[in-house]
Parts: sequence; structure tokens; C-alpha cells
Amino acid sequence: MHHLETAVEIAREAGSLLARYYERRVAFEIKGEFDLVTEADRASEKLVVERLRSHFPTHAIVAEEGGGHESSSDYRWFVDPLDGTTNFAHSFPMFCVSIGLERAGEAIAGVVYDPIHQELFTAERGSGAFLNSHRIRVSETKRLADSLSSTGFPSRKRHHNINIHFYYQLAMASHGVRRTGSAALDLAYVSSGRLDFFWEFGLKSWDMSAGTLLVSEAGGRVSDMTGAPLNVTTSDHLLAGNGAFHDEILAAFAEIFRGHQRIPLPPLTSSR
Ligand code: IPD
Ligand code: CA
Ligand code: CA
Repeated sequence: MHHLETAVEIAREAGSLLARYYERRVAFEIKGEFDLVTEADRASEKLVVERLRSHFPTHAIVAEEGGGHESSSDYRWFVDPLDGTTNFAHSFPMFCVSIGLERAGEAIAGVVYDPIHQELFTAERGSGAFLNSHRIRVSETKRLADSLSSTGFPSRKRHHNINIHFYYQLAMASHGVRRTGSAALDLAYVSSGRLDFFWEFGLKSWDMSAGTLLVSEAGGRVSDMTGAPLNVTTSDHLLAGNGAFHDEILAAFAEIFRGHQRIPLPPLTSSR
């Protein structure tokens, strides 16, 4: 069977499994400081990896919870069995299954499935991006000042993360910055024009693989924070957007990196 069709079938099956756990409200464990994991993450990963291995026994698989499979094949799958675990564990309905495939280092297929809203985002290299089989495109917003974006903060080692400074500066310079709690869905939302761009520091290959292909197939641009092409296995800082004002965002980032505060912190005053 074709790669994308198989990945869709598997993502739907894993999504239904997650939805069943979600209704039962499963307990969570702490993987590291504030880093949650549930039985659902593990069960979903087991299902996805087992199905991929039975369809494509020679392919390599990189999976978040450690159930992957090493191989020298040109084909490599990237699996996030539950992206948005913190949301999931708190019954906040924003999470998904993300499955991406590369061949010889180039992304060729990606699926992001949100089982609560029953939204299936799919892309294949050269064939465009789709939401529930309808073609999607990135937004037409032309400047940072008119944009709605989103970002994320890692659960691991969050005190080392500098993003809160960027969050503040970007929020002040635009219509707003959302924090959805699922990087793969953020990317899917950029591909469907609901968000103009998304950035995050410290992502993993399984967070980015499927979603970045969605964005580029929907006509957007994906890069690292310097504007260089992104490699999901070696870059962990990502900017993905509609492409129309990517350089403007990169310039704003560069300024913040240099320590320049575009908007100084206001004094604390009463709003009464
Ligand atoms: C997390 C989510 C979150 C992002 C974190 C990721 P997980 O993935 O995508 O939005 O900000 O960096 O680790 O742990 O829920 O699979
Ligand atoms: Ca995960
Ligand atoms: Ca993730």
C-alpha cells in the first residue's frame, strides 16, 4: 500500500485509541521535571510502531517514547504518538498524532490527526496539503503587525528556554501569539491559514517532521531561526510561516537575540 494512505490509516487508528483514553481521563506520570507522560502516549506509540513495522519492516522508525527501530534504510519515519500530552492530561482538547516520513533525508509524506475535532491534515511532497481531503493553503497576511501566530515552550529544562522574551516582543508587535500546547497542530494550523506563523526553540524531529511538510506543501516557508533550511534531525529551532514576511520575523528575532528590546516593559500601573 502507498506510504501516505498507510500512515493515514494508522494515524486514524491511533487517534481513536487516544480519544478512548481521553474520555476515561487517564492518570499521568512525571517523566522529568514537569514532563508528563501517560499510558495513552505509550499505547499509541506501540500501535503506530507495530503497524509501521508490519507494513514496512525494513524502514527506520524514530519514535518519542523510545519504541523506534534502527535500520540503514533510506526511509525513516518520525512518530509523535501524542503531541500535546499536557493538554491531554488536563482534559484540554488540543492534541494529535503526528507521523512523518523521509526518504534519503527529504520529507516525502506527513499526517497530523486531531481525533477530538476529527481533523486530518495530510501532505505528500509535490502534491499539496489537505485538510479532510480539501486542499489547504497558507494565509495571505503580509506583515507582522497584522499577524496571528503561535509558539511553544518545552516541558523539559524550561528554565533554560529564552522564548518568553520573544513571546513578549512578538505579542506586542502583532495581533497576538497563541500557545496551543501542540507543536504539530500549530504547524498544521499554519498550513491551513489559521495561523500566519509558528516558532519554537528546542523541538524534536517527531514534533516537526509531518507539520513542516504540511507548511511547505501549503505554500509556506520553513527555516531555522537564521533563515537557513531546516533539517528536522539536526536543527531544533524552528520558524514556519506563510512566507510573505518571513524575513521581517527573522529580523525581529535577530534584534531580540542582540538584546535589543523593541518594546520596553511598562511600569506597573492600576487599570481602575
Ligand atoms: C510538546 C508540545 C508542545 C511544545 C513542546 C513539545 P509533547 O510535545 O508539542 O506544544 O511546546 O516543546 O515537547 O511532549 O506533548 O509530545
Ligand atoms: Ca509526545
Ligand atoms: Ca511532541
